[in-house]
Amino acid sequence: MDNIAGPPVEGENFFGREAVVKHLCEQLHNRNILLLGPRRIGKTSTARAVMLEVRKQKWQTIEINVASCISERDFLEKLGDTLNSELSSFPKKIKRAAIKPLAESIERIQSIKMGELGVSLGEKRSEEWTQVGCDVLQLVAQAKNHWLIYMDELPIMLYNIIRNDPQTGIQRVRRFLDWFRNDVCALSKANNVRWLVSGSIGLDTLVQEHGMADTINSLSHEGLEPFSDETALKMLDKLANRYGITLSEQDGQNILTAVQWPQPYYLQMAFNHLRRLIDADGTNNLSDLIPTALDKMVQPGADNDFHHWEIRLEQQLSKADADHALALLNLSADNPDGIRPEMLLSKLQERMSNHTADDAKRTFVRLRDILLRDAYWQANEADGTKRYQFCLRPLRLWWVRRNTL
Ligand SMILES: Nc1ncnc2c1ncn2[C@@H]1O[C@H](COP(=O)(O)OP(=O)(O)OP(=O)(O)O)[C@@H](O)[C@H]1O
Ligand SMILES: [Mg+2]
Repeated sequence: MDNIAGPPVEGENFFGREAVVKHLCEQLHNRNILLLGPRRIGKTSTARAVMLEVRKQKWQTIEINVASCISERDFLEKLGDTLNSELSSFPKKIKRAAIKPLAESIERIQSIKMGELGVSLGEKRSEEWTQVGCDVLQLVAQAKNHWLIYMDELPIMLYNIIRNDPQTGIQRVRRFLDWFRNDVCALSKANNVRWLVSGSIGLDTLVQEHGMADTINSLSHEGLEPFSDETALKMLDKLANRYGITLSEQDGQNILTAVQWPQPYYLQMAFNHLRRLIDADGTNNLSDLIPTALDKMVQPGADNDFHHWEIRLEQQLSKADADHALALLNLSADNPDGIRPEMLLSKLQERMSNHTADDAKRTFVRLRDILLRDAYWQANEADGTKRYQFCLRPLRLWWVRRNTL
């Protein structure tokens, strides 16, 4: 197993989530899946492992990454093009039956002028693209096999639509999600097409903030839990063996304590810094090097992986809410064990002095739930008192360093 910290991992390098993959494959027999989670949590690696697994059961699979799409038309084009290249690997007979109508659909997609500046969202326009979308999927469904369509970064596409079309963007997102729920899911149920939709910025926040939570309710909501300590230690052990490093159980424990939230990416990252220090230092004195490796993780230059935690708040929330959330996070970063809810609420009341106490409390509860769900915070009740604490210790250290002159 290689020490990879960044791109999706596969094969031997995909560690410890076999049970998750099995569970997702079982879910796919009956339902479509929504896999959401913070960046770098392993969504793409897991989704690709699922694709590999269902291919063993003779499913046909395609992957589309819609992060660069800024309109419904871009989305359909991407879907059409990917299907086109997948179908080209089909036996001639099936290919002939499917390719011509698909090519015609792609032409129709290209003639749709969606999301261009100044184009209002007339019903006719939306009927136009939703119908073409359904026709494309109908073609897929005609094949006898099961299909899995893995669509990555859907929330980014939806935020792109909103950003590029301040007037009707939200309406269009609602229409897109309605279409997905009503037409696409109905088609996928009747035929053997399943969807695995994933993304890293909160689709759940987006739909809640704009009152459209109903549009994603039919999907099976899945997340990726951190490793158990046992799995995390096994992974560190495997990495250590691979690089000829002697890692005692205590060293492994020390890395876990230092990271605090054993998601594989942060273990890989900590190990990577450790490995570089060992190479530079020439010694193998890990108990000294582990704190230094952690410190390296949060220094400028190495800290790009933490910026997105901050940026994500600005992307998902209104300016006022994002500022409140930042203030709550700043306060909770002060203490490794976290801060009591009463103190956090009082901070918010101070910031919302021209609002009622009820308003401040409602805002606190809403933001707290977002921070818990998006894995900034966890509730720490170790000594019988509840505190909200950063899940990821290096993120807390980064947060403190960022706020220090
Ligand atoms: N099962 C795993 N075994 C080992 N390492 C993993 C595993 N899953 C994720 N990782 C680590 O996390 C990194 C990111 O994985 P991946 O790209 O799948 O995450 P992601 O959630 O799709 O990220 P992004 O939000 O940036 O698209 C990998 O480079 C690797 O370091
Ligand atoms: Mg990814």
